[in-house]
Amino acid sequence: MKISVIGTGYLGATHAACMAELGFDVLGVDIDAAKVSALGEGVLPFHEPGLPELLRKHVATGRLRFTTSFEEAGAWADVHFVGVGTPQRAGEHAADLTYVDAAIRSLAENITKDSLIVGKSTVPVGTTRRLRDIIDKYRDPSVSVGLAWNPEFLREGFAVRDTLSPDRLVFGVDNEADETVLRSVYAQAIADGTPVIVTDFETAELVKVAANAFLATKISFINAFSEITETIGGDIRTLADAIGHDARIGRRFLNAGVGFGGGCLPKDIRALQARASELGLDRTMRFLSEVDSINLRRRDRVVHLAESMLGQLLGKKIAVLGVAFKPDSDDVRDSPALDVAVRLFNSGADVAVYDPEGTANAAKRFPRLDYKGTLEDAAQDADLVLLLTEWNEFRALRPEQLAALTSGQRIIDGRNVLCGDEWEAAGWEFAALGQRFVPAGELADALMR
Ligand code: UDX
Repeated sequence: MKISVIGTGYLGATHAACMAELGFDVLGVDIDAAKVSALGEGVLPFHEPGLPELLRKHVATGRLRFTTSFEEAGAWADVHFVGVGTPQRAGEHAADLTYVDAAIRSLAENITKDSLIVGKSTVPVGTTRRLRDIIDKYRDPSVSVGLAWNPEFLREGFAVRDTLSPDRLVFGVDNEADETVLRSVYAQAIADGTPVIVTDFETAELVKVAANAFLATKISFINAFSEITETIGGDIRTLADAIGHDARIGRRFLNAGVGFGGGCLPKDIRALQARASELGLDRTMRFLSEVDSINLRRRDRVVHLAESMLGQLLGKKIAVLGVAFKPDSDDVRDSPALDVAVRLFNSGADVAVYDPEGTANAAKRFPRLDYKGTLEDAAQDADLVLLLTEWNEFRALRPEQLAALTSGQRIIDGRNVLCGDEWEAAGWEFAALGQRFVPAGELADALMR
């Protein structure tokens, strides 16, 4: 079986390399000629642990190739996976389906043998049936072109593992023959015991957005409690641990902090609200607007904490540690860390940023921040240090290590990964999200009274 993968971004490049790893001949297709030529030379244009090795390995054997030609893909492959982006539409909440529609039409126009198109992109419910019509309109009537929806659940940072050993496989199909094709593509994972859910198009589309909406809600749920513990006292980490022991709740995705970002969760909860409204269900997903607001308010909280620690931001030196939306990624799309850094800069602070992988992407978006190559350079002479992405390098920070560099001993833990007592015992003014914070000045005033 020959496989093409349309779209060679995060999802597509990973899927293509993993399909080659499973032994298939694979052709990656993208309209971006620069990306195609880099990938064809075994160069991955983003950071993902383990993926560069797979890419180089299979490009070298010739099992994995890349092209800009839909004509070549349409004549060659038996199964075409579509993993193009569905970003948020500019100025709207809804998903932009331009790339999906264009990819499906180009495939339909160029397929010259019986084949199956398998959608992997995250799409609003109802899209697959609409794409079926596009295929029927543009395909050669003498060839049969099937369509299935097989959502992708990979997490950045674990993309290879999640693709080769997924938690579950979801096949949205309208006939058994297409299911059989998908079962043979994923034969290895199925043999390893991965559960397979065979369902209709609508359910398959909804599984993906429901999972992301649930995860986003879980994060905002604990972050809403942070607003309470910040006001009255209490320990947000202990609260998460304690409720997490209830197996029905579970501890994962209850880490309070500066909130979620990235290329999926924020846009997916917005697109789901927009789709529900289109269906006349204005109130159904309205709670996701609160989930979004709670998430965005976490960024305000960090900026307010910085202001209360420094008195004013103008002219103050602030070291921002972390700019990627999460560790083990160089992705800065909708990154809470980058957003906070830019807001501090716009308030007149002198912001030095360090991230092990994310600075190049951040610099493309906001070139005016002062990007540093090491943690030490960023922390040098800082009045305040902010930890906003929990890379291991930052989790391992020790007070004495930073004190030798900074000019003030003030730190905000935006991810709840440091031990506040240890920092306070070493003489630091320490604040964390979800913890009540009384600025040192106010504490002194209160003691005088
Ligand atoms: C997510 C889904 O997990 C994945 O299944 C889907 O395919 C794509 O979207 P990803 O965007 O890679 O994956 O990131 P994820 O690991 O889910 O983290 C999302 C954001 O939530 C990050 O900004 C992370 O820092 C934040 N987060 C996560 C928290 O703030 N607290 C937590 O407890 C967990």
